[in-house]
Amino acid sequence: MDQYVIKGGIPLQGEVTVSGAKNSALGILAATVLTDEQVCIKNLPDISDIDILLNAIEEIGASVTRKDRNTVLICGANIKQTTIESENVRKIRGSYYLVGSLLGRFKSAGVLMPGGCNIGSRPIDQHLKGFRALGADAEITHGMVKADAKELVGAHIYFDCTSVGATINLMLASCLAKGQTILENSAKEPHVVDVANFLNSMGANIKGAGTDIIRITGVEKLHKSTYSIIPDQIEAGTFMLAAAATKGDVVVKNVIPKHLEAITAKLVEIGASVVEMDDAVRVTATDRLKSTSVRTYPYPGFPTDLQAPMTTLLSVSSETSTLTESIFDGRFKYVDELAKMSAKIKVENNVAVITGVDRLTGSKVVASDLRAGAALVIAGLMAEGFTTVEQIEYVERGYENLEGKLRKLGAEIIKTDSKDEKTVKKFKLKVG
Ligand code: EPU
Repeated sequence: MDQYVIKGGIPLQGEVTVSGAKNSALGILAATVLTDEQVCIKNLPDISDIDILLNAIEEIGASVTRKDRNTVLICGANIKQTTIESENVRKIRGSYYLVGSLLGRFKSAGVLMPGGCNIGSRPIDQHLKGFRALGADAEITHGMVKADAKELVGAHIYFDCTSVGATINLMLASCLAKGQTILENSAKEPHVVDVANFLNSMGANIKGAGTDIIRITGVEKLHKSTYSIIPDQIEAGTFMLAAAATKGDVVVKNVIPKHLEAITAKLVEIGASVVEMDDAVRVTATDRLKSTSVRTYPYPGFPTDLQAPMTTLLSVSSETSTLTESIFDGRFKYVDELAKMSAKIKVENNVAVITGVDRLTGSKVVASDLRAGAALVIAGLMAEGFTTVEQIEYVERGYENLEGKLRKLGAEIIKTDSKDEKTVKKFKLKVG
């Protein structure tokens, strides 16, 4: 098992380039199977979730050619199978998008129940409700999500809660259905818009993505396309928070500043400086940051995926802060790990009360999920002494070359096998 070893206390400085958005990429890759023509996807993040989804797409008979680590050609002309039973798809959340796209094109889909990060209860009732409204029989049976239909007919679907996954899945399932589908109370995240833009580039007719109401008029067929995925809003936010947390000066490049407004506003409120450029933001911090209260919301609110990194940043702020998690019910597992690093955080139900301490201290900690792992890396960058973050396979699910990008910003961080004591010792002697 790999781990990161970090020597903290060094302000991050320089420029970092953000990769393509993970959560767009998962929807877009699944969407490629809606056509029998070849599709080229660029700016693909080089992360393990993508490898797993591409393997699943190959398993059903599509041809998948990686031109390089960030560009893939996919052709779904020879898809023979609409059931995916490989155990690997259980590891990721985005595998559920193959239910929407296979149902949309072949009127039949079966995918082992998706897994993903363990951040609380993650029902998919809204996905199933939507598929049923289009005329499919949809259920979870023997650990598998199954959906079958004679034909799919557009419907008016009102989601009971705002769900990124259900919104994207229903766009996928309905773009080849007969007539019009209207999705109300849709998620407005940038990746929802990105998937809609990609589908439209293949000939779909989707209007209103990015608003509460999405209207999809079914078309006969989708065709080839070349498409570049948008930058990852959450990776960008992670580097912005890391820059402020280490009192650094970082230009985060290849971003859409509009997607980062909730993060920018909070950083400015607590005393950091954020300068927006056309496709970059520069984050600097010099003094001790102030405390604040944050509540996670669907976009354009503060993203739940940055809740753990934000709590970490606030753990050394001047007074007491609160962070309310309103999307997932089990997303504070990392707090016990931060306590090992001297943070003072008390969680009651869905609220973390964070009493700012003077400094964090390095420790051995374990990542419990992707964003928790990123938060512990930031904690390690801030802390006095050495921090070891274990179970970094979670981090590698969603961040491309995190340690390499941080090293370019001046961080002292290595990735090693947890049994490789020699390399760790050498690193500690070197950066001492
Ligand atoms: N929900 C339901 N029923 C449903 C669907 C969702 O009750 O049928 C609830 C969930 O339990 C949750 C809320 O609605 O309380 C929002 O869930 P959503 O469906 O929006 O989340 P998701 O599709 O499971 C995606 C991202 C997550 C991100 C959330 C929220 C992917 C693959 N995952 O999950 O990303 O946190 O949206 O923005 O796109 C991550 O990247 O670290 C990550 C966890």
